[in-house]
Amino acid sequence: MCGIIACKTHSPSAAYLLTGLRRLEYRGYDSVGIAVRTAGGDVVRMRTIHRIDALERAVDDWDGAAFGGVGIGHTRWATHGQATEVNAHPHVDCTGRISVVHNGVIENAEALRRDLASSGHRFATGVDSEVICHLVEQRLALTEDLLAAVKGAVVALEGPWAIAVLEESTGRLVVAASRSPLVVAHTNVGEFAASDITALADWVDEFQVLEDGDVVELTGVNGWHDPDKTVVTPALARFIWRAGDSGRMGHADFMSKEIEEQSECVARVLDEVGDRISTGALWSDLGLQCFDRVRVVGCGTSLNAGHVIGNVVRLLGGLPVTSTVASEAGGSVFEPGTLMLAISQSGETADVLNAIVDDAAGGSPLLALVNNPHSTLARRADAVMTCSAGPEIGVAATKTFTCQIVAGVAVMISALVAAGRLSRTAADTLVDDLRRLPDRLAGAGSVAECIVPALADELVDASGFVFIARGVGLPYAAEGALKLKELSYRWAEHYPAGELKHGPLALITRGTPVVVVDDGSPKLATNVSEVRARGGLIVSVGPLGSSIPVVDGPAAPWGPIESVIPLQILARSLAIALGHDVDKPRNLAKSVTVE
Ligand code: F6R
Repeated sequence: MCGIIACKTHSPSAAYLLTGLRRLEYRGYDSVGIAVRTAGGDVVRMRTIHRIDALERAVDDWDGAAFGGVGIGHTRWATHGQATEVNAHPHVDCTGRISVVHNGVIENAEALRRDLASSGHRFATGVDSEVICHLVEQRLALTEDLLAAVKGAVVALEGPWAIAVLEESTGRLVVAASRSPLVVAHTNVGEFAASDITALADWVDEFQVLEDGDVVELTGVNGWHDPDKTVVTPALARFIWRAGDSGRMGHADFMSKEIEEQSECVARVLDEVGDRISTGALWSDLGLQCFDRVRVVGCGTSLNAGHVIGNVVRLLGGLPVTSTVASEAGGSVFEPGTLMLAISQSGETADVLNAIVDDAAGGSPLLALVNNPHSTLARRADAVMTCSAGPEIGVAATKTFTCQIVAGVAVMISALVAAGRLSRTAADTLVDDLRRLPDRLAGAGSVAECIVPALADELVDASGFVFIARGVGLPYAAEGALKLKELSYRWAEHYPAGELKHGPLALITRGTPVVVVDDGSPKLATNVSEVRARGGLIVSVGPLGSSIPVVDGPAAPWGPIESVIPLQILARSLAIALGHDVDKPRNLAKSVTVE
């Protein structure tokens, strides 16, 4: 979704802005723009509904006054108003003196617009963000100080927002945020702000995260100084991802790189936590109480990972678990002794952030399982477990899924040991099984690469797909169907195999592809026969003898995790055969910051 970058650099800012915007591309966008101050003191605005390459060409072709070191940039994912150039950020006030980029939603934009229009402000667009420019303009009529004007203006805003405001006459740059992520960094090439730390990966080692309501001028180390009140300066956080982590590293696309990396990433997770699982220390170091039940919330792939983790708690600990789509979590009944487990790779998903507000009211301790330890979810949680997948650029989640499962399973096994619900010996055996996963995932990747692309060519004309599984295999069927629909744009539904005969079997005709995640259950074989009898085309992912034989080893409480690799490769191969962009599937965004 939308991304912000702002900078005050020692050399022309446009190059930094373009690099940062490219790093934000993965979030998904439909227009992009920058506003850059020239050496002559004017602000030049360039916007396009095309890709960042088009913006770069416009910058290269610019033959006006030389660009200076101050600028702001934005990738927009349209929510209010169509994806047109005029609606693209940065937006400006009536005079063009103030340029603003904005992430989030101004919920009271219409009321503000009416007030501002009635006091003479002229609007160029229907975009909610434009009201911010006019609010700052209005405040600047009362004070000459941009920082004070922005502080005054943001008081009127309702909803989640992060903004960067550039003043033409002075070149001052002020950023602010509330319930929407924004980080600032002081580096040896200049000052930066961005909605996503990966935008700054090339220059930043340490950064600070704005707290809700912070308004900061990019002036260097004194950014948080406020003459009117005592302000707590946020601690410096270290950037844990290297710039190279967010490159394609010779792969055709990020998705193929991220699928391949899974074995290495899982090995890294286990290196980090493996020794502390069966002692119970991984759990006790988090400082949370033991629990009697678990409530999992998440969306999409993260929720699928949550189902796997929930199965482990249920099967090994005998504890009740509910797993809820975060956007539907409102109105849940709270029970004492509940651990709330919120799972989100980005840690910025609005639905998840809303779901935890309700639970905080219910009093459940909150454990966040995130890939970004500096995210809003991580900051709001009572304890944080990182899944350590490294930056995931492809919009479709792949390596974060497997890492979430392994990190989540590890912490839950540890919790069960700490609570005396699982013996240390049993946990040791489980940890040994977990330690075999990197090899099993790598093996599954090799087998799948040989078989799946040719299979995808055969299936390219299928209009839809059914995925089935039973028990611990079910979350993987769900994940396979989700990947396939988001990348190939074909319908794909998953069902518990036993449920087919209660309705979905009507979908099966001659040649309908039915992907079976085979965990070896004998009942599954019966369900497969029912599909075959109706002419369905079975593609099984499971042990030796399956169409894609990748599952090697005994059934584990976390199910056949290696089966997800061929399912990811199937979705990618189909999408490529259909000519789709696998890293940026249509209509989707990486970090879903709207409800
Ligand atoms: C699917 C996918 C989405 C996300 C979902 C939650 O490939 O990526 O379904 O899993 O939008 O996102 P996070 O994990 O950031 O909360």
